This record gives sequence, C-alpha cells and structure tokens, in this order.
Amino acid sequence: MASRNVLSVTPGAPEPEALAKAAQVLRSGGLVAFPTETVYGLGADARNPEAVRRIFAAKGRPADNPLIVHVPDIATAQSLVTNWPARAQMLAEAFWPGPLTLLLPKRPEVPDLVTAGLPAVGLRVPAHPVALALLRAAELPVAAPSANPYMGISPTTADHVARGLGDRVDLILDGGPTQVGIESTVLDLTGAVPLVLRPGGVSLEALQRVLPEVRMAAHLEAEGPRLSPGLAKRHYSPQARLHLIEGRGALLSAAQAARDESLALMPLGSPAVDLPGVQVRPMPASPEEYAQQLYATLHDLDAAGATLILAERPPETPDWHAVLDRLTRAAAER
Ligand code: TXA
Ligand code: MG
Repeated sequence: MASRNVLSVTPGAPEPEALAKAAQVLRSGGLVAFPTETVYGLGADARNPEAVRRIFAAKGRPADNPLIVHVPDIATAQSLVTNWPARAQMLAEAFWPGPLTLLLPKRPEVPDLVTAGLPAVGLRVPAHPVALALLRAAELPVAAPSANPYMGISPTTADHVARGLGDRVDLILDGGPTQVGIESTVLDLTGAVPLVLRPGGVSLEALQRVLPEVRMAAHLEAEGPRLSPGLAKRHYSPQARLHLIEGRGALLSAAQAARDESLALMPLGSPAVDLPGVQVRPMPASPEEYAQQLYATLHDLDAAGATLILAERPPETPDWHAVLDRLTRAAAER
C-alpha cells in the first residue's frame, strides 16, 4: 500500500536524507513510525508532552498504559534515570542493542505522561539499523509503543502500520519486515528481585545466564495483581476468533466441526495439511521463526476475512514461552 506518508529506506544502510526528514518530524513534535528489530514503533519526542499525547490519540490508547523510551546508547539511558544499578549495566552490555526493555526510576525530565504516572521508565536500545540511525539523527529520546491501534496486532511491516494507523502518522519509514517479530522482554529492575513483566525477544534463560536471580512476575503464571498496565489479558488480537488446539489430530477434528466458518488453520511444522476451502498457514516448528511470522500471519488472515483461526498449540517448553504468551492473549475471550 503506497501512501504519501511512507518513505522507503534501505534496512541495513538507511539513506541520510530520509533519516534527516524523519528526525525533523520528531523534533517538531510529529509522529514517525519506524522499524525496530521486534515490531514497528510509533515514535515521538519523549521530552515533549504534546508530542507524546499524539501517540495516545493516534492509537486510541488509554493514558494509564506507559510507553517505552528508545535511546541510542547506554549513556543516554543513564541520563534519564535517577539510579543505574550494576544489574542494569550488566544486562545492557549483554543485550543492547536488542529486544530488552529495562524499567528504572525515572528522572523528573521524563514527562509523567510517558510513564503513565508510574515512577519507573522503560528504556531500550533497539538493534535495528534504521531505528538506531533515526535515534542518532534526531538526537532525542523517542517514546514509542507498537505502531498499531489499541488492542490490535502489532505491526511487523510498514504496510501493517499504514493499514492500521494511516494518516494518523506523519511519516512511516519502511525498512522491510522486522526480524524478531514479537515485542521486547520487559524487565522491572526497581525491586529487590528483577522481574520479567512481559516475556519477549530475550528469553528468561538468556537473562538468567547474566543475572541468575531474574524471575517471571507471578501474575504471568497465575492471576495476580497486574504490575504492568499493558499486560491486559486480551491483547494482540486478530478480528477473527482464535482457538489454540493441542495436537494435530484434535486440530483436524476441530476443523471438520467448524464447517460454517470462514476457517483458517495454523498447523505447527510438518507434515502439511490440505483441506478444501480452508486457508492453511503452516507455522515454523522453531520458536524464533514462529515469532517472526506470527503477527504477519494474523494480519494476513484478518485481511483475508477469516472468522475463525485454529492454531496448533506449541509445546509448553521455556523456549516457546514468549510465543505462547502472545498466542494465549490473542485467543483470550473478548
Ligand atoms: O519491542 C517493543 O517493546 C516495541 C518496540 C516498538 O520497541 N514496543 C512495544 O511497546 O511493544 P508497547 O507500548 O506496545 O508495549 C510496552 C509494554 C506495555 O505492556 C507497557 O505497559 C509496558 O511495556 N511498560 C512500558 N513502560 C512501563 C513502565 N514504566 N512501567 C511498567 N510497564 C511499562
Ligand atoms: Mg503494543
């Protein structure tokens, strides 16, 4: 979908003129959608409350859901917090640039709007060359949620952004499809124990290799108090209903029973499935590749008018944790 506000850039070596233009939009308080290695972000100058307000308006996002601030390096992250603990340094050195967001106590210069009034700010250095180059060109911290309407599926292409937000964005930098495909891991470093509030691109095991004391927040395992407002049970949802089904046999039986629906199947790995009149999207058997394709598959099936999606449930092993989290939320009853 070519649109007036879309600017294509070379993913590995973004054109300086395009970056300069995007940086100018950010500096003047506008909204720029840009690729990160996880999903596309909807960025604004994090120091400018008016600009940040536009993000919430464009997404239709409630003001009690805080935004992640994207910075080009550790030094800039340090400049936005009141305390940079040794843990933060170790994790940043190990995983930045990359899909890890660290929550740390914010300085007063970070507007309350960005953190939804919470005392901590989420910080991350994204690994995508376009995102990094934009942050360097703009020379300002960029607040950016995923560039989708509130409760929608996160965008992994510029086309998803254009379809979801259209001209509510001043400029979309098209740097091709994103690599990781699901959002960053959100890690709270403000308490005695570092807690994963949202599983994502960096696994719990990888975090524990650097900091063995990291834990999953209890509410991810059981229903408990919500520490992060963005962790609404239902989230990342397609228009179609999504059901998770254990095992290939049960998947096929459910497909037979759902004759009246505009049905789509997401079987896991091989062997292939072929059912007349059913849209079949085979999903990769590796969690990394599955994550990379998940949102694009859901966007495609929505666009194709599916009313019911049956997905074969991936295994409950740690390496599938983040993918299962997103699938479970997408499948939650509305
Ligand atoms: O990969 C990502 O994280 C993408 C790219 C664009 O960086 N961003 C993203 O942002 O997914 P968003 O806004 O869609 O999700 C951010 C999550 C939300 O669940 C939010 O509640 C939580 O992080 N979060 C952000 N700042 C927080 C804070 N200060 N305290 C608690 N939770 C926070
Ligand atoms: Mg989001």
